[in-house]
Amino acid sequence: MDIRSLKLVCFSPTGTSRAVAQAVGRGIGHDGVEVVDITRPGGRTRRLETAADDLLLVAVPVHVGRVPELVCRWLGTLKADHTPAVCIVVYGNREFDDALLELMDIIRECGGRPIAAAAFIGEHSFSSADTPIAAARPDAADLRRAERFGRAVGNKLRSVAFAEEALTVYVPGNHPYRERLPRPPGHFIAVGKACVQCGTCAEACPVGAIDVRASTAVEEDECIFCCACVKSCPEGARTMRASWLKDIAVRLSEDCRARKEPECFL
Ligand SMILES: Cc1cc2nc3c(=O)[nH]c(=O)nc-3n(C[C@H](O)[C@H](O)[C@H](O)COP(=O)(O)O)c2cc1C
Repeated sequence: MDIRSLKLVCFSPTGTSRAVAQAVGRGIGHDGVEVVDITRPGGRTRRLETAADDLLLVAVPVHVGRVPELVCRWLGTLKADHTPAVCIVVYGNREFDDALLELMDIIRECGGRPIAAAAFIGEHSFSSADTPIAAARPDAADLRRAERFGRAVGNKLRSVAFAEEALTVYVPGNHPYRERLPRPPGHFIAVGKACVQCGTCAEACPVGAIDVRASTAVEEDECIFCCACVKSCPEGARTMRASWLKDIAVRLSEDCRARKEPECFL
């Protein structure tokens, strides 16, 4: 089947899901790529409708084994009219649990037709120099794998007349999905003296929780612990403050050392 345009949807607070999505997009090799980046609040005000001759590629990070809640909310407004779809989750070398299955289910509910799916590895949001977890991933090998996956998706589409002929039936995961954890209380991010109030963190925050004129002021209830502010700070002034968050980072950096490889389902 011929594709009119590739709609590349991504939510990517620390950039790894976006990097994987772009590499898969390169592999698919379509001229008409439209990037729909829903990472910032402004990006999520847009509603998207896709047609049967579009190709929808959705890439999101795994948060506690699931698709992040705010992504679920936005995807709930998507209208995909029999659109062939590629579902991608990116996780921090622990597990992707039920996230890929959940993403496939959501896309089906919106009217999309998942024809391929994949789980890639990205540097963990809680990774730091002291507690490295999948540091610097996706790396060159991951991105080559992503491009190869994209080429396979393109070939699969060219071999059929309708998306229904190319459906992907199996991805790992369970129903009911892993339960979402209750929100822990307290302050999560510490802002050190090195902060020069440049506003980069406020720009990077996917939920608009940081005041652009006073970056120490954080709406704690809004924070989704994505660490976009920590990783984007040019002064290295932001760190994880909560001891439970630091404990998780230490444990993950010990338990998740063995390199996992991308898994693709076509
Ligand atoms: C709140 C939260 C929960 C996470 N849960 C998981 C998880 O269950 N398994 C895992 O391997 N990685 C987990 N991660 C790591 C992210 O999935 C990983 O770092 C991903 O590459 C981030 O994508 P992004 O760069 O597009 O934001 C979690 C990250 C955050 C912020």
